[in-house]
Amino acid sequence: MLKVGVLASGRGTNLQAIIDACEKKIINAEVAIVLSDNEKAFALERARKHGIEAVYVEAKDKRKHEENMHELLVKHDVELVVGAGYMRILSPWFIKKWYGKIINIHPALLPSFKGIDAQRQALEYGVKLTGCTTHFMDEMPDHGPIILQAAVKVRDDDTRESLADRILKVEHQILPRSIDLFEKGRLVIEGRKVKILPGDSWLTKYSYPDVFYSDGY
Ligand code: GAR
Repeated sequence: MLKVGVLASGRGTNLQAIIDACEKKIINAEVAIVLSDNEKAFALERARKHGIEAVYVEAKDKRKHEENMHELLVKHDVELVVGAGYMRILSPWFIKKWYGKIINIHPALLPSFKGIDAQRQALEYGVKLTGCTTHFMDEMPDHGPIILQAAVKVRDDDTRESLADRILKVEHQILPRSIDLFEKGRLVIEGRKVKILPGDSWLTKYSYPDVFYSDGY
């Protein structure tokens, strides 16, 4: 079973989606540890409710923060690190340690709307389609090789919240699926591109009719 370490700064609904997929055996993985830079992150509580070790790692000193996280991840034999609403930019030092074994979810169709509040950025820009992306992390924020994307329509009457909620539901699908593909050894990084090797599909099992999923979902 793949041992996953999750980094989360906030409420942790993506973490919850991963935990649920593990517990329901939808994916062959377990969350070995959850780390947060925010002592009050609800993600930590969610983890503890499921008997998962959850640690607040102080982030006043970035290098120490990352060294401590690295140590904890290694100690828990983590094989894949997942950024699930972790709102800090990781340094090249940390990324080098985990490259190819660290993925992230972003609430937009990258490379559009990098950075914070991507949903509001999309709404204000007036795009008709936005969505979410999972990608391997590299040394630049919201930049590494893309694993999966899913496109969500922007409606005329959308608010930042209504749009964010619809995207979030899809995040909860493509993030566990990305972990699943990693666990099955189906992700091959070729430069900027991720080749997804043939295999099963979640399209018929778990999809929303008005969402457009990239190949491999
Ligand atoms: C999610 O929408 C995630 O995509 C986003 O933060 C939210 C966390 O929600 N991440 C980023 O914007 C990273 N650049 P959650 O705590 O409920 O999972």
